[in-house]
Amino acid sequence: MKILVLNGVNLNLTGRREKGVYGSETLEKINKEIAAYAAKRGAETQFYQSNLEGELCTAIHEAEGKFDGIILNAGAFTHYSYALRDAIAAVTVPVVEVHMSNVHAREEFRRNSVLTPVCRGEILGFGKNSYILALESFLL
Ligand code: DQA
Repeated sequence: MKILVLNGVNLNLTGRREKGVYGSETLEKINKEIAAYAAKRGAETQFYQSNLEGELCTAIHEAEGKFDGIILNAGAFTHYSYALRDAIAAVTVPVVEVHMSNVHAREEFRRNSVLTPVCRGEILGFGKNSYILALESFLL
């Protein structure tokens, strides 16, 4: 099982921005923990982060045929990127949407995701463990 963990805009600042919301561990550290957990569960992970919408779309296109699933935290793109939505719809590789924070308990604009309708499912509100739970969803 090969899983691509894709992080979008501003997620590179995890551990440094809004620590009360996203925690104080860096994305690099979180990714290492995900990779170690995946290895124990017999899965292989690759990681990619970009602040650019088009680069994330390209990563989704290129995952087709190479990965069994994508775990996607698109950051704020979640709420308005029709380009990412169409990229997800254009491939057959299943995508699980992830958010570290409980977006429903925050600002109104975060309650809507344009990605969820084209994703296999959505996991949110469990901090860095949202990624682990998403990984588990592929292993069930
Ligand atoms: C986020 C939630 C988004 O609303 C926000 O723009 C982010 C991070 C999360 O992981 O909780 O950048 O996707």
